[in-house]
Amino acid sequence: MAEASSSEELVLAFLAEAGDEFVSGEAISGKLGLTRAAVWKHVDALRAQGYRIDAVPARGYRLAEVPDRLTALELRPLLNTHDLGRELHCHEELGSTNDRAKELAEAGAEHGTIVVAETQTAGRGRRGRAWVSPPRRNLYFSAILRPDLSPARASELTLVASIAICEAIRQAGVEAGIKWPNDLLASGRKLAGILTELAAEPDRVHWVVIGVGVNVNARAEDFPEELRAEATSLAIERRTPAPRALFAAACFTALEDWIDRHAEEGFGVIREAWRERSVTLGREVTVRTDGREIVGIAEDIDATGALLVRGRAGVERILSGDVALLRPR
Ligand code: BTN
Repeated sequence: MAEASSSEELVLAFLAEAGDEFVSGEAISGKLGLTRAAVWKHVDALRAQGYRIDAVPARGYRLAEVPDRLTALELRPLLNTHDLGRELHCHEELGSTNDRAKELAEAGAEHGTIVVAETQTAGRGRRGRAWVSPPRRNLYFSAILRPDLSPARASELTLVASIAICEAIRQAGVEAGIKWPNDLLASGRKLAGILTELAAEPDRVHWVVIGVGVNVNARAEDFPEELRAEATSLAIERRTPAPRALFAAACFTALEDWIDRHAEEGFGVIREAWRERSVTLGREVTVRTDGREIVGIAEDIDATGALLVRGRAGVERILSGDVALLRPR
């Protein structure tokens, strides 16, 4: 996808600022130091991207409708982060935003770089599963982090991300909770997932890629038949669509805030925040891990984020696996 020129962004910002009012081509060209022809060219380019811009002789231009797109043009003005999204790559289609982010990280991309796609042809979930990525309905993004953390502590960032995305979902009006380690559920169904990947040496993390998929405006029919009973979206839960660019910006802000807290205050606050949002703790669960199945009560997470399950053989410490919640509350 072509990156928007900065004059195009400025013309759009000028029109957005004016709200319902018309602004003359002369005012725009004077203020932005562009020729009238250049203003017209940018208006045309914006229209081609789905912006509806009224043009009335002697009155000027008015922004009548903004498309629901995750482009740099839409996202950049909404960002209020210091690092996340400073470098922003928006694509109409990618295999997987995590794969693209990993390539960029290997090529030296800076901390905070974000890759967004409107659809993924090979979206990946945890444990080798696919992530269903219908076009222009949901949010798929990956953030490149270069944290000052030992590799042993890098997995804490997955819990950090789950708290942040849970918070953004709750701000959007949906009571989500976290199923260990980092699935976001609403009404017992999966609303969002997080896939963390990293490159490290024994004593140093090179980069961490946090991949986030949130079902924002997906309808039941956007999910394959076999997932319909298990998956949900913000729109399904709220019974009204959500503005994706605003929601994406809220995710970036929450992610950065929680990354900062983790860096400043350590894992203790993260553990506490995770516990408060957990829908796993205190529940009877089945855990599939390393070809085994453990049934028991999920008691807590420990100081490394591992799940502690009290089964018949005593307390087991689970480092990775799939948790199923038994008996709905
Ligand atoms: C899971 O719950 O299994 C994790 C799902 C993670 C999906 C996101 S979508 C954006 C990023 N790109 C991918 O290929 N996967 C993650």
